[in-house]
Amino acid sequence: MSGLAPLLPAPDPVPLLLRDLVHERTGVFFEDGRCSTLLEKLHERAVAHGCSSYLDYYYILKFDEKGPEEWHHVQDAFSVPETYFWREFDQVRALVDDIVPAWFAEPGPARPLRIWSAACATGEEPYSIAMALREHGWGAHPIEIVASDASAAALAKARAGLYRERSFRALPEPLRERYFSPVPGGNALRLDPAIMARVSFHQINLAAPDQTAAFAASPVIFCRNVFIYFSPSSISRVLSSFARGMPAGGHLFVGASESLLKLTHEFDLTQVRGAFVYRRKPLSSP
Ligand SMILES: C[S@@+](CC[C@H](N)C(=O)[O-])C[C@H]1O[C@@H](n2cnc3c(N)ncnc32)[C@H](O)[C@@H]1O
Repeated sequence: MSGLAPLLPAPDPVPLLLRDLVHERTGVFFEDGRCSTLLEKLHERAVAHGCSSYLDYYYILKFDEKGPEEWHHVQDAFSVPETYFWREFDQVRALVDDIVPAWFAEPGPARPLRIWSAACATGEEPYSIAMALREHGWGAHPIEIVASDASAAALAKARAGLYRERSFRALPEPLRERYFSPVPGGNALRLDPAIMARVSFHQINLAAPDQTAAFAASPVIFCRNVFIYFSPSSISRVLSSFARGMPAGGHLFVGASESLLKLTHEFDLTQVRGAFVYRRKPLSSP
């Protein structure tokens, strides 16, 4: 094992048992050499329960009646809510300049469009989508933006709508001035309530198909910069749960460093205005 020594005893094979349980329930995977990092992240929770070893904590997670509630804390412990406004904006531009216009150009009465930000962290991604839609003239169209994350702590920050400097590193200055106002006595900026009202937040674990089913039917899914923490098998399972619900032709955006090519037969990689996006294949496709 590398890194800091765990402060509680973790006799073999407990680190691997915990690693596999976390993988099964959250999709997040720690390589053999990174189990010490996993133990460090869980240390505070194990101590909070008065555990004398990681085996005690494993039993709580796996068998105890406190287990289901405890998993929420585990998701918080593993959450890496690194994000910012206008991140990888070429994909959002493809949405507002191409995908949304095509949706509303379809003949007949306008159908509502749902956009799902599936690992939204502290909200910068779905709020960027809401701002971009407004900027490009789609503010009054029937577009629903739903956003979710497994971490309750990240969602609480998203719902609060208060942001500090780190979140603004890519947002053009005029937009910062238009949509944010200073909070008296603090160094955070408050997002325009009208933008906040466009997004609804939900706690959803991507590794639980019964939870993702509610939103997988969205024609547009942003699921960016979360698969980097998942194993290939977990990613494949999440993709299958998306594919079961998504309409043919639906668009799935993932992070620039995330490739799904060897992990799914249900999506094709394509480009929209220079941005990479996966498209749900027609259901009859092999
Ligand atoms: C790096 S952030 C990505 C934020 C945003 N999508 C972006 O690209 O800027 C990764 C987020 O994935 C969330 N996450 C990790 N495992 C998850 C799971 N099993 N289900 C849902 N969200 C998860 C974390 O809580 C964290 O907020």
